[in-house]
Amino acid sequence: MTVKGAEFWYPRQGNGTGGFPLFTFEPGPDHASYIIEGQHRLTGTVRPSGAKNAVLPIMAAILLTKEPCTIVNVPALRDVSMMMGILTALGARIETGTTAGQPSLTIQVKDIASTAGPPDLMGEIRSSIFIMGPLLAREGECMVSYPGGCAIGPRPIDLHLKGLRLLGASISEEYGRITARTTGLRGADIHLDFPSVGATENLMMAAVLAEGCTVIHNAAKEPEIVDLQDFLNLIGANIRGAGTDTIRIVGRSSLGGGAHAVIPDRIEAGTLAIAACATGGDVRLAGTIPDHLLALTAKLGEMGAEITEEDDGTLRVRANRRLRATDIKTLPYPGFATDLQPQIMALMSLADGTSILTETVFEKRFNHVEELRRMGADIRVDGRTAVIKGPARLTGTTVQASDLRAGAGLVIAALAAEGTSVVRGVEHIERGYEGLEVKLGSLGAVIKKKDPYPKVRASTG
Ligand code: UD1
Repeated sequence: MTVKGAEFWYPRQGNGTGGFPLFTFEPGPDHASYIIEGQHRLTGTVRPSGAKNAVLPIMAAILLTKEPCTIVNVPALRDVSMMMGILTALGARIETGTTAGQPSLTIQVKDIASTAGPPDLMGEIRSSIFIMGPLLAREGECMVSYPGGCAIGPRPIDLHLKGLRLLGASISEEYGRITARTTGLRGADIHLDFPSVGATENLMMAAVLAEGCTVIHNAAKEPEIVDLQDFLNLIGANIRGAGTDTIRIVGRSSLGGGAHAVIPDRIEAGTLAIAACATGGDVRLAGTIPDHLLALTAKLGEMGAEITEEDDGTLRVRANRRLRATDIKTLPYPGFATDLQPQIMALMSLADGTSILTETVFEKRFNHVEELRRMGADIRVDGRTAVIKGPARLTGTTVQASDLRAGAGLVIAALAAEGTSVVRGVEHIERGYEGLEVKLGSLGAVIKKKDPYPKVRASTG
């Protein structure tokens, strides 16, 4: 698959920020690897990038307005590049730049050029589904293919479709393509069977231009949903309640433009915090929102790490001794994030005692277990529960990242392991981590990215 639009190329800076890697991507075993020499203690200060899960729905939300919008603190991620490709195919003009020293995107969709999502790109990222709500609201029509994303179990979109139907869309599915049409969306009372993050966001975006009032009950409460509300309200929407389980939206006839800085990535911050603990390190995470990390920091504290919040909001994470085992269940926010489950599993395998880790959000999110075992971890899986016996003596070997967060878990194990590890599948990791090797390297990790062959820059054709 070729991502079109090399004119969007934005070179990566020395500190790991910037850079929208648009390149030819053929998934396969020959992709880039991280070569990691383990057992180097992480120390120093690092600043996580803007949140992937905040920027993607906000990019899609810009389809709702004719006016230009600027998003600031945009992370340079593969998924962001993919979304840029999708929006461009729909008629967006996108400019990359910097605003107040931070990478930014200015997007304007004066006219919708097409209401059909490009199938090749739609299949690459789960977030492609976010174009549905805005296109239906603005144009009364959209055609999408089933979204792609990480291989972490079935990821149906029934809740998105059910909600859109309640708002007045008629939806048909044929040959893997979904067509939705409406003569005008109307506000409705929607009760989500599960607090799905994506469905909550898609329905919020559809409802902002619907006639009348929409109430989403049992909504997801993730901070990224609050960020989407803040952005939409900034450009003229009327939404209240994001961050609670009831969101109320009063429809408007049109929206304007504006500039919005996305929140810091709590999952990246959490990953770096766990990496610090796994190496017995002392790391300051600058520019984070510590409240977004409470479920993790409470658990790290229970395990024996020392977490302190400094005056300027910097979070200091120290692990001076071997950590203790603990039990964790992943849950929708404010529970423990499923996106930190592989990383904490790597840490649990190093801790003293038996930990129990239960995955309740996704059905098949234990792809990393086999690879961690190959490094020496003692993990037994029974259904959705993993029993991790520690402390294991992890040793370096070649492992394969099967998805984004599984890759992050393997990197953490490799940072703590004796000897050298090769983590393959870096293309998955780059979907959600900006310059991970640069950031870890700045903290003292010995990590190199090895490309098997030079990247081919995309053509603009
Ligand atoms: C978002 C995040 C992802 C995170 C996940 C859970 C983005 C871009 N991605 O994904 O990083 O892991 O939240 O915190 O924000 N479900 C249904 N039907 C639906 C929708 C979801 O059954 O229509 C199920 C899913 O299969 C899954 C669970 O609900 O088991 C959670 O999914 P959801 O909250 O929708 O996750 P995403 O929005 O896909």
